[in-house]
Amino acid sequence: MSVVSLVTGAGSGIGAATCRVLAERGDRVVCVDIDADSAQRTADEVDGSIAVGADVTDAADLERAVTTVVEQLGGIHNVVTCAGIEIGGHALDVEPETFRRILDVNVTGSFLTAQAAARAMRDASHGGSIVLIGSLNSQAALPGASAYVASKGGVLMLGKALALDFAPHGIRVNIIGPGVTDTPMSAATLADPERSAIFLDRIPLGRAADPAEIGRAAAFLTSADASYITGAFLPVDGGWLAK
Ligand SMILES: NC(=O)c1ccc[n+]([C@@H]2O[C@H](COP(=O)([O-])OP(=O)(O)OC[C@H]3O[C@@H](n4cnc5c(N)ncnc54)[C@H](O)[C@@H]3O)[C@@H](O)[C@H]2O)c1
Repeated sequence: MSVVSLVTGAGSGIGAATCRVLAERGDRVVCVDIDADSAQRTADEVDGSIAVGADVTDAADLERAVTTVVEQLGGIHNVVTCAGIEIGGHALDVEPETFRRILDVNVTGSFLTAQAAARAMRDASHGGSIVLIGSLNSQAALPGASAYVASKGGVLMLGKALALDFAPHGIRVNIIGPGVTDTPMSAATLADPERSAIFLDRIPLGRAADPAEIGRAAAFLTSADASYITGAFLPVDGGWLAK
C-alpha cells in the first residue's frame, strides 16, 4: 500500500508546493482546501492525488474528508497542516471577530485536522506523522500582527501538546516555522520594494523562501529519517530566528 499524505491549504502556496514534493517521493497525496476548485487544480498537476474541499474550522468537514481518504486510499499516514490566514492590524484597532477568526483557522483548524487524522491512525494501529505549519512568528513577534502572532505561538505549543498525547500511538507531531515565503499570502509585501526590503534585510540568507523549501522540510519530518523526532520546532527561515 502507498503512503498516503493529507495536506491542508493545498490550493495555494506552501500547501500546493508540499503536495508536489510529497508526490515526487511517491506518496498518494490528498489535497484539502476550503476552496475546492483550487484543491482540484493542485490535484490535477500532482500524479495520483485526490482533491477534497473542506473547511479546517469544521470538525464534521474534516471527519468526512478523513473517512473519504480511508475509504478511497486505504489509510492515512502523514498530515501537513498548511491551511492558514493572515490579517494584519494594529492591536489597538483589531476587531474581536478578526482576532477570533485568525485563531479559529490557524489554531483550531490545525487541532481539528490533527485530531481527525490521528483518530484514523490510531484506529488503524499503524502510527503516523503530523506536521503543523507555524511561523517564525511562533517564536518572534512583529508589530501590527497580534492576532497572527498569537495564533502561531498557539500552533507551536499545540504541536508539542499533541506530540505528548499521540506518542503512545506511534504518531509523531512536529512544527515547522517558515520565514518569509514567496506565496500569495506574502505577495503584496514582496511586491512592494520598501516593505519587502524591511523583511529581506532581516534575513541572513537575504531572500524569501521558495515554498518547495518548506515542503521539503515537511517531507523530511514525515519520513523514516525523522523516526525519533517528535515535539520539535524546525525553523525554515533563512536564519531569521538565529539573530
Ligand atoms: N507565506 C509566508 O511568508 C508564510 C510565512 C510563515 C508561515 N506561513 C504559514 O504557512 C501556511 C500557508 O501559507 P501560504 O503562504 O501558503 O498561504 P496561501 O494564502 O498561499 O495559502 C493558504 C491556503 O489555505 C487555504 N485556507 C484558508 N482558510 C482555510 C480553511 N478554513 N480551511 C481550509 N483551507 C483554508 C486557502 O484557501 C489557501 O489555499 C499558513 O499557515 C501561513 O500562516 C506563511
